[in-house]
Amino acid sequence: MNDAANAARGAATSYGWIKEKIAKVPRVPIALIPTPLHEAPNLSRALGGPRIFIKRDDLTGVALGGNKLRNLEFRLARTMSENPDTVIVGLDLQSNSARQTVGACNKLGLKTILVLEGRPPAAPQGNLLIDYLLGAEVHFAPNAAEQRRMLDEIAARCRAEGGRPHILNDNPMFDVASAIAYIETTLEILEQMEAAGARPTDIYMSSSGKGQAGVVLAQRLTNAGFRMRGVTATSEFHVPSRTAAIANETARTLGLDIVIDEKEIDNDGGYVGERYGVPSEAAVEAVRMFGRLEGVVLDPIYTGKAAAGMIGHIRAGRYAKDDVLVFVHTGGAPAVFTWSSLWLDASAAGRGAA
Ligand SMILES: Cc1ncc(COP(=O)(O)O)c(C=O)c1O
Repeated sequence: MNDAANAARGAATSYGWIKEKIAKVPRVPIALIPTPLHEAPNLSRALGGPRIFIKRDDLTGVALGGNKLRNLEFRLARTMSENPDTVIVGLDLQSNSARQTVGACNKLGLKTILVLEGRPPAAPQGNLLIDYLLGAEVHFAPNAAEQRRMLDEIAARCRAEGGRPHILNDNPMFDVASAIAYIETTLEILEQMEAAGARPTDIYMSSSGKGQAGVVLAQRLTNAGFRMRGVTATSEFHVPSRTAAIANETARTLGLDIVIDEKEIDNDGGYVGERYGVPSEAAVEAVRMFGRLEGVVLDPIYTGKAAAGMIGHIRAGRYAKDDVLVFVHTGGAPAVFTWSSLWLDASAAGRGAA
């Protein structure tokens, strides 16, 4: 049976054939999944908009949770096949991925060495603080070129001392793991929505390629009819071409006969604000709204910007009241501590005009 026929069959059979393909990929159990999905009626009412559900991938259970724990199940399975004792990874100073990697490696009994791009702050906060709490060895690199040099130097030193290092950035599953993970998340969403008696019109998620590639593949594989609306937090690269490239590499890895064209990728670059890593006004408003209306804590760097995108599209009249949106909360809340002054005003902003 080809993939199109399988897609038709999958719609009626809880996507078993897609799950079988994913089950062939080596994996270590790390995350608490499936994550919950719940409706956000106060948010819908405040916006006068469609029904909104939130998929809680911030609740994946290790080191305060987030989307990366899902891909680490596949990335670290590949890592473990080399029998390392140390994982070395180069990421951003306030990386959610770094925090979750340290937590996952701790569970697997691996030492983690982080080489973070940025200057050491006088008083570590947010993700960096948790990196220390979890016991990571932390180094700082002033730029990407120096970070790469340090990764290799630290790995060489580790080897010279009799260690077995693995540089996670060089892991061949690095991008594909995220896409596979988000095919699975999408299947969870579709099954949970079906149980709730609703079908998603659109799925919103913060992504600059990897996670979105998975949702787009799942959309094609299931024929479920929703549109994937990515919102990027960075303008450092062309997200649609990157997303399509990752989707196609993932399709090859899973042995799927599908090709995704970058023209099919819907990713809104209009909510980055000043630049990556800096909160925007719209993101701050979105964080307040989710918190004050639904008790859900987003972050002002990724999920707040994605929520701002969804809210912006609702306010622009894109949806009818009987449409159904799913917002994927990909984690990242430790950043609210890095940006603590943003939350201290006592205004009622964000309660909306219900
Ligand atoms: C909280 C959060 N959301 C979304 C993303 C984007 O993920 P991706 O571009 O891998 O889909 C990240 C990546 O670091 C993140 O930390």
